Amino acid sequence: MKIGIIGAGFVGRAIAKLAIAAGHEVMLSNSRSPQTLFSLKPMIGCEIGSACEAARFADVVVIAVPLTAISALPVSELQGKTVLDAVNYYPERDGQFEVLDGRQTTTSELLARTLPGSRITKAFNAIPMTQLESDGLPAGAPLRRALPLAGDDIAGKNIASELYTAFGFDVVDAGPLSEGWRFERGMPAYCVRMTKEELTAALAETRR
Ligand SMILES: NC(=O)c1ccc[n+]([C@@H]2O[C@H](COP(=O)([O-])OP(=O)(O)OC[C@H]3O[C@@H](n4cnc5c(N)ncnc54)[C@H](OP(=O)(O)O)[C@@H]3O)[C@@H](O)[C@H]2O)c1
Repeated sequence: MKIGIIGAGFVGRAIAKLAIAAGHEVMLSNSRSPQTLFSLKPMIGCEIGSACEAARFADVVVIAVPLTAISALPVSELQGKTVLDAVNYYPERDGQFEVLDGRQTTTSELLARTLPGSRITKAFNAIPMTQLESDGLPAGAPLRRALPLAGDDIAGKNIASELYTAFGFDVVDAGPLSEGWRFERGMPAYCVRMTKEELTAALAETRR
C-alpha cells in the first residue's frame, strides 16, 4: 500500500518507520519543504515530498499535524482519498476551540468538515508514539494492547485495522466518526494501555 503522511513529526515518523517495516511504501511531508526532510529518506527509507505530493502519491493519507494546521491541508488533492486522522486537541498548543470545549463536535468531525470530499477514519490518536513503536506484540500474545478507531467508511476502517494489526495491536471499533469523542484526550481510554476486552468496556462506559 502507498501511504502518504502529512506531518513529519513524532507521529509521521513513527508510522512511517512501522509501515515501511511492514512492507508499505511511504511518503512523508511537512509544511516547510521536502528539503527540510532530506535526512529522513536514507534514515527511514521513505519518499519525501510536499503535502500535495504526499496526497497524490497515496492510496491512504495519514494526517499527523496540529489541529490548527488542518485548515491548511490540500483539500483538492485529498478529494476522494481514504484519510486516517491522528489529530488530537491540546488547547495549550492549539488555542481554545469552543465547539470542542463544549463537546458539540469532535476533532475528527472538524477534519471531515474541512475535507468534505475525503473519507475520514479516526486512528492512531490514543497512544503516545514512543509506545506505538515499543508496545506491539504478535497476534494472540497475552495482554496484547488494543487501539481504538472510529469512522463511517468501512474501507478506511479496514485499512486502519490492517495497520494496527501489522504494528502489533488488537483493534477495537468505537463506531461511527461521531463517536470519536470516546477516545479523545482526557477520556479513560486515551493513551492508557488496555487489552481488547478492557478497551471495549472502557469505550462503552465512557460518558461525554
Ligand atoms: N506525539 C504523539 O505521541 C501523538 C500521538 C497521537 C496523536 N498525536 C497528534 O498527532 C498530531 C501530530 O503530533 P506530533 O507529535 O507528530 O507533532 P509534531 O512533532 O509537532 O509534528 C507536527 C508536524 O506537522 C507538520 N505540519 C504542521 N502544519 C502543517 C501543514 N499545514 N502541512 C503539512 N505539515 C504540517 C510539521 O511540519 P513543519 O515543522 O514543517 O511545520 C511537523 O512535521 C497532533 O495533532 C498530535 O496531537 C500525537
